Amino acid sequence: MALVRGADPLVGALEKHLALIGFMGAGKSTIGREVAERTARPFVDTDAEIERLHGPIPELFERGEPEFRRLEEQVVAEALAGPPSVVALGGGAVLSEKTRERLCAHAFAVQVEVDPDTAWARTSESDRPLARDEGDFKRLFAERQGVYAATGDASATDADGTVLAALGIRMGGPVPPAEGALAVVADQHVLTLHEPPVEGPVHSVPAGERAKEHDVVERLWNDIELGRDGTLFAFGGGSTTDVAGFVAATYLRGVSWIAVPTTLLGQVDAAIGGKTGIDTSRGKNLAGAFHFPTAVVLDRTYLATLPEAERRAGMAEVVKTGLLSGEKVWELPEDEMIRACAAFKAGVVLSDPFEREGRRTILNLGHTFAHALESGSGYTVSHGEAVALGLLAALRLSGLGTEVVEELLRPEPVSADRDAAWAALKRDKKGEGVFVLLEEPGSPVVTTIPDDAARDALEALIRK
Ligand SMILES: NC(=O)c1ccc[n+]([C@@H]2O[C@H](COP(=O)([O-])OP(=O)(O)OC[C@H]3O[C@@H](n4cnc5c(N)ncnc54)[C@H](O)[C@@H]3O)[C@@H](O)[C@H]2O)c1
Repeated sequence: MALVRGADPLVGALEKHLALIGFMGAGKSTIGREVAERTARPFVDTDAEIERLHGPIPELFERGEPEFRRLEEQVVAEALAGPPSVVALGGGAVLSEKTRERLCAHAFAVQVEVDPDTAWARTSESDRPLARDEGDFKRLFAERQGVYAATGDASATDADGTVLAALGIRMGGPVPPAEGALAVVADQHVLTLHEPPVEGPVHSVPAGERAKEHDVVERLWNDIELGRDGTLFAFGGGSTTDVAGFVAATYLRGVSWIAVPTTLLGQVDAAIGGKTGIDTSRGKNLAGAFHFPTAVVLDRTYLATLPEAERRAGMAEVVKTGLLSGEKVWELPEDEMIRACAAFKAGVVLSDPFEREGRRTILNLGHTFAHALESGSGYTVSHGEAVALGLLAALRLSGLGTEVVEELLRPEPVSADRDAAWAALKRDKKGEGVFVLLEEPGSPVVTTIPDDAARDALEALIRK
């Protein structure tokens, strides 16, 4: 297992190339192309690039493998010298020590795993020079596994697994070992239900949103005893991961942190994407920092104790994700649903990790209305209820059917002050009149809406 790396910006593939390594036939090119599209990064397939520059690979091999490897090393070096990209490397590329060094310095390398029979079935009909004899092929497969494992920072079998790995997100399993000492920040209610999965001094925080008040941060800054090489471990829902991540971003000017979210909302949304923050007397999440956790472990066994209302709040984000991705993720078994939602968000986050290019805006589908309802009700409406209603408004304004939201989330109009909600909507940080709508499920658009249409849509969510 790769060691968890230090604090930002070294986390995963955030500011590095995402390199796919592994045996021929593993699917590196197909996965790479999809991951590049989802992360809005350039895609380089080094075999295709060699052929473009130097001619067909079987012909190059006829001139001798060393000559081919020399050209391959050059092509990989050039790909890794460019802007952060997704780079699919030929199966033998990592045999070069120089390539391995370059990967270590400039890339997060994911080994795409495959079993030898599948790899052989996929390649034996091709003209690949090293896929002519099954026995030789499988011997080479066995020989190469060591170098892939030693070079990869993580492994995956599909595009979702690759983007998750690229942000240090794993489905269940043990918490990866951290360098240095560990301090645990945990929701006090969750502590009565579950043991934190790591050892270390425990600092409890109030359950829910109250954890994000300034006095809690002050206490954590004072009580935590870690050096710069220490790691903060967050254990609880989105409120706990938000405050713990914020403390990690600011304590000693930044220490590493690991998140184990215990709510559905935390697992599909809040713990993913590096946004940390607390509330101020002027509003929610008004002080914060981008500070990506070095690892996030999504373990659905914690969800067994989650109250129904909290589960519904998470389902609102699941439905949002499915509307954005165009996949009926809510129909999947729970672990696959969580994985698909987390991977969708991870892909969007990787396309714009620090929200400089506006690509993360789509994640606000339904949230402009939700924030307005929360604020207009003086925060008596829960976030989950508000997001469900916000999705309803977004679908109506998009001219799409609302059945999914009605059936899965059963939103009901809520009590809120109409003028206060409207004022909050106008103030919303996405800017005047800018909303996320859908051309169809899977095709979000960021667009403007005339004030009267937006106000009508908002009022339809408020009880008469
Ligand atoms: N940083 C981000 O990108 C991001 C994204 C979305 C939401 N958020 C934030 O997340 C917060 C909401 O997080 P949340 O919905 O996860 O809830 P939460 O952390 O506020 O917890 C809600 C309640 O569930 C309880 N709980 C948590 N885990 C439990 C478990 N396994 N069993 C039983 N009870 C459990 C808590 O004690 C609490 O009472 C908000 O503050 C929101 O702003 C942040």
